[in-house]
Amino acid sequence: MVRKPIIGGNWKMNRGTPEDSKEMLESLIPLVLEINSVDIVIVVPFTVLTTVSKLLNGTNIKLGAQNMYFEDKGAYTGEVSPRFLKAIGVEYVILGHSERRDIFNESDSLINKKLKKALSLDLKPIVCIGEHLEEREAGKTKDIITYQINETFKALTKEEMIKTVIAYEPIWAIGTGKTATPEQAEEIHIFIREYINQKFDRDTADSIRIQYGGSVKPTNAEDLFKKKNIDGGLVGGASLETNSFYQIINAAALTIK
Ligand code: PGA
Repeated sequence: MVRKPIIGGNWKMNRGTPEDSKEMLESLIPLVLEINSVDIVIVVPFTVLTTVSKLLNGTNIKLGAQNMYFEDKGAYTGEVSPRFLKAIGVEYVILGHSERRDIFNESDSLINKKLKKALSLDLKPIVCIGEHLEEREAGKTKDIITYQINETFKALTKEEMIKTVIAYEPIWAIGTGKTATPEQAEEIHIFIREYINQKFDRDTADSIRIQYGGSVKPTNAEDLFKKKNIDGGLVGGASLETNSFYQIINAAALTIK
């Protein structure tokens, strides 16, 4: 089973004026033009989606949003409809990032509603799951992952599950410079895949893409992506500069399995 690796660059709230977005993308676009073996997604703040959508038009880089609401329209001040995202060329959406869960109290059931909505509109979801440091230290990583899969992916069909990208992001590794070792990451990726096999079937488990996220850098990307069950990465800090992000994309292209 060949799964196409996917590299997401999540700018969070760190980059995203029209000027600094343009500056970075104009240097990145020509560098990655020939890389077709990897799905490359740039995930930018809402305010710059339209600008970036135009910049990416006709390139092989896809556009992603960092969040969305689960309703199409209505009195939801401050929220963003998935239909608005679709209308400006957004293809991917990150759901349930640990920062949304921890800082903005997003629950698994809310993420599940968003996920079903995104799938119903053909937006491609990147759903984040992962444990806190205390949970890992208490030996609860697999329980947390199991719970998150059960709740976040509740009532999804096999077809919907296959369209979803999972990002395994151990929270203790996000923005901390502490990467999970390739072995630690692979162990959980195998666990996730096997659990999906149990809940769905072999075909679903073998088809679904599972990215790793948490301090992915040019220096560790290749070792992580070489692992059989790691299908690319969701990158925060190292996606903010052209050179480091390009090296990570290249690492994914070099380690196609
Ligand atoms: P990081 O962020 O690469 O800066 O650790 C990853 C993420 O939050 O997706």
